[in-house]
Amino acid sequence: MARHVVATAAEIPPGGRKLVEINGRPIAIFHVKDEYFALYDKCPHEGGSLCKGKLTSLVESDGPGDYRVSRQGEIVRCPWHGWEFDLRTGKSYCDPVKMRVRNYAVSVEPGTRVVEGPYLAETFPVSVEGEYVVVEL
Ligand code: FES
Repeated sequence: MARHVVATAAEIPPGGRKLVEINGRPIAIFHVKDEYFALYDKCPHEGGSLCKGKLTSLVESDGPGDYRVSRQGEIVRCPWHGWEFDLRTGKSYCDPVKMRVRNYAVSVEPGTRVVEGPYLAETFPVSVEGEYVVVEL
């Protein structure tokens, strides 16, 4: 699985979002509180951009007049017809078994690690013993 640097952390402040393209795939990155989430940016209904959707909360009820609100900002509502998707799983609350958008792992890493990148040549310890250069494999 390849790693892709998509933004500096400052580009996506808490409550912010950014649409990026990786290998031709539009991916919406969301920053909610101290966490980042990434979803494929096409709603499975008719293709609305989830990056343009409103972030809302999970509302649950056991009956009329009873409701609980939780997970503030972790549900995205599609701007076209209002279907809602969980940022953590990509699942839809309309039909969680059949309807979901793909989600991707996101991490924030220090610049030193990003600069280091995956392009490292293999190195070996070298020492000089007497008049001979010795490489350890
Ligand atoms: S395109 Fe997203 S709900 Fe219709």
